[in-house]
Amino acid sequence: MIQVAVLGYGTVGSGVVEVIETNKADINKKAGEELNVKYILDLRDFPGDPYEDKVVHDFNVILQDPDVSVICETMGGIKPAYDFSRQALLAGKSVCTSNKELVALHGAELIELAKENHCNYLFEASVGGGIPIIRPLNYSLTAEKIDSITGILNGTTNYILTKMDKEGADFADVLKEAQDNGYAERNPEADIEGHDACRKIAILSSLMKGENVNYEDIYTEGITKITREDFRYAKKMGRSVKLLAMSRDTEDGFFAMVAPFLIPKEHPLYSVNDVFNAVYVHGNMLGDSMYYGRGAGKLPTASAVVSDIVDCARHPGKTIMCFWDNAQVKITDTANAKRRFFVRVDEGKKEAAIQAFGAVEEVGADITGEYAFITNVMTEKAFEEKVTEIGGVINRIRMEG
Ligand code: HSE
Repeated sequence: MIQVAVLGYGTVGSGVVEVIETNKADINKKAGEELNVKYILDLRDFPGDPYEDKVVHDFNVILQDPDVSVICETMGGIKPAYDFSRQALLAGKSVCTSNKELVALHGAELIELAKENHCNYLFEASVGGGIPIIRPLNYSLTAEKIDSITGILNGTTNYILTKMDKEGADFADVLKEAQDNGYAERNPEADIEGHDACRKIAILSSLMKGENVNYEDIYTEGITKITREDFRYAKKMGRSVKLLAMSRDTEDGFFAMVAPFLIPKEHPLYSVNDVFNAVYVHGNMLGDSMYYGRGAGKLPTASAVVSDIVDCARHPGKTIMCFWDNAQVKITDTANAKRRFFVRVDEGKKEAAIQAFGAVEEVGADITGEYAFITNVMTEKAFEEKVTEIGGVINRIRMEG
C-alpha cells in the first residue's frame, strides 16, 4: 500500500483526496498498489468532513511516519512549502506538487535533492493544470530538440480576453464579472500582469533546455492595457489578442517572453478560448504538436497531482529522470527579437508615423481621432526607438504569425 500525505486541504488538496476516492479502482490498478491518504496537513479543522480524522496540524507527524512514502504539496506559496518539500525529500519521501511558484523558484534544487535521496520531485500539475505537458516534455519528446514553446498558460486572462473579443466588453468590466463568478482571484495581479504565465513558461523552458531558466529574467507584460478598441482592429485583421508565453531556442540565442500578441485565425492557439490552456511545441524531428485542456480548477489540477503519485508508486526507490539542472540559461535580450507590431497613434501623428516606419499597412476600424497601422518586421529595439521618437502612441501590440 502507498501511504500518502496531503499538505494543504484547500481547493487542489481536497481535489486530490476526491480523485483518489472517486477513481480508486482504476487508479490502484494502474499504480499496481493501493493508494491510501493517511494524513491531511492543514492549520484548520474540518468538522463533519469524511476525512476529518486524517487531519493533523504538525508536519513532523508525517515526516516521522516511515509508512508515508509520497507527499502531495498542494499548499502553494514558498513558505512553508519549500521547507516541507526539502525535509520530505531528505527523508526519502517523494513530493508531488501543483505549486508553480515553488517549482519555478527552486525546481532544479528540489529535483537534485530527490535524485540524491532516491525519490522524486514531480510537478505535472504546476503548468497547464490537468493538461499533460511536463510528462510529454520529460518522457515522450526525448528524441526531439525542442526549439519553440508557445503557450496560453493562464486561464483567467484567457477568459477575460475571450469575453472582450466575443462580447466587445471592457477589460475592467470583464475582470469584475470574472471575480464575481469566482474565475478570477480577488487579487488578480499575478494573472493579469502576466506573472503566473511567466513562472509557467520558465518551468517549461527549463525542461526544454535541461537547465534553469530564471523567471525573473523573462520579459513580462500583462493584459491590463488591452482595450475593446484593440479587439475592433483585431477583428478587421482577422486576428485575436491572446496572452502568449513563449520561448525560442535560436541561433541568435534563447528568447523568452510573456506578452499579449495579435494572432491570426489560422494559428493553432487562436481557437483556445475561455479558461482553457494550450501549449504548442515545435521539435526538430516531430514538427508541431499541441496539448490542450483545462489549465486550472480543482479536479483537473488534482488529477495531474494524482498521476504523479501513480508514477511514484510505479517506481519505488527509483528516481524518474528529469533533465533540469542548476546551470543558468542565458536569456538573450528581447531587444534583438524581430517581429511586426500593430500600432495606434493620435491622428495628428500619422505623418510622423509614416516617416518613421516607412511603408506601413494601414488598419481601419471606424475609430475616429487615431491612425492605426502594422509595421514591417523589425527588432524590438528599433521599434521602441521609433515609437518614442514619434510620441502620441495610444497602444501597440506585438504580431505573431
Ligand atoms: N490563476 C491560474 C490561472 C490558476 O488563471 O490559470 C492555474 O494556475
